[in-house]
Amino acid sequence: MRAAYASAPHPDDPLAGLVVGERPDPRPAPGWTTVAVKAASLNHHDLWTLRGVGIRPEQFPMVLGCDAAGLDTTSGEEVVVHAVIATDGWDGDETLDPGRTLLSEKHQGTLAEQVIVPARNVVPKPAELSWAEAACLPTAWLTAYRMLFVKAGLRPGQTVLVQGASGGVATAAIMMARGAGLRVWATARTEAKQKAALDLGAHEAFASEARLPERVDIVLESVGAATWAHSVRSVKPGGRIVICGATSGAQPPAELARIYFLQLSVVGSTMGTKAELADLIAFVRTTGLRPHIDRSLPLASVRDGMAAMAAGDLVGKIVIEI
Ligand SMILES: NC(=O)c1ccc[n+]([C@@H]2O[C@H](COP(=O)([O-])OP(=O)(O)OC[C@H]3O[C@@H](n4cnc5c(N)ncnc54)[C@H](OP(=O)(O)O)[C@@H]3O)[C@@H](O)[C@H]2O)c1
Repeated sequence: MRAAYASAPHPDDPLAGLVVGERPDPRPAPGWTTVAVKAASLNHHDLWTLRGVGIRPEQFPMVLGCDAAGLDTTSGEEVVVHAVIATDGWDGDETLDPGRTLLSEKHQGTLAEQVIVPARNVVPKPAELSWAEAACLPTAWLTAYRMLFVKAGLRPGQTVLVQGASGGVATAAIMMARGAGLRVWATARTEAKQKAALDLGAHEAFASEARLPERVDIVLESVGAATWAHSVRSVKPGGRIVICGATSGAQPPAELARIYFLQLSVVGSTMGTKAELADLIAFVRTTGLRPHIDRSLPLASVRDGMAAMAAGDLVGKIVIEI
């Protein structure tokens, strides 16, 4: 089958290991199913994999891609793939399983004509979402959903600050927070991206280091070192920072004194459960929200998409149609 895969880790030049070529057709084990992929979206996770972060060297070559929408060839149904693969017999929140992996960490990923997953890892695709829209939900949108509605403890009317507005997780967070009745503020590095944040539903958008008019209830962090100090300075006493990633580096200034003196909470968040993916799908159906797709590309052009993501040259999601 045709696939986009990482041939070997390249810590300083992630695109050097990116190949579009033939990989063996996957064979599902008992209890697994084959999904014929119609669309998959790119995530920053793919760049981490190409750099060799979060994956052991012996796992290469590895088909990239965490999320997909396609046809379940066992049931014939149109499905969305839940990318969190729990260990057999795990019962409960899949993201808390110490042995869980994301697709493309241990099991081959979704940027391919076919992907195999445990049969329990698919949910029905709603007919009103396109393949491309559905393929944005399982990673970026699910992560933002859990940050907002499971980890942040937000109530409608409160103010949330989304750092690094233009990314996949951040655009999802802005749109869903607005859809849920929150006051939404966002930061971005350029004026064009600040404008894009407003277009997506943010009430106000600021430059990355800007002093805010007032402190916010919750900050959603995925940028890391570049915005961490600003996040700690921007949250109210007793407020909460929910963090899912550290794109710009994972060793920010600790700001420990502010954290204890202002009694802040720092809460980690990773992906979401299958049940939360089903709730997310119900949320987008009810509200009419749709992922903001920066561009759709064929598999042969996946390098262009990865390069754009590495350069931060995107607003929203890049989708690969297969
Ligand atoms: N824990 C999980 O389960 C989980 C799930 C999904 C994603 N993540 C992580 O979350 C992060 C975002 O993922 P994504 O797929 O949304 O990535 P993305 O689409 O590539 O977006 C990255 C965003 O980070 C911001 N950024 C990057 N470098 C920056 C810098 N030096 N200064 C300021 N902002 C910077 C940019 O915001 P602006 O250009 O708009 O300022 C950019 O939009 C990644 O690190 C990813 O690994 C974790």
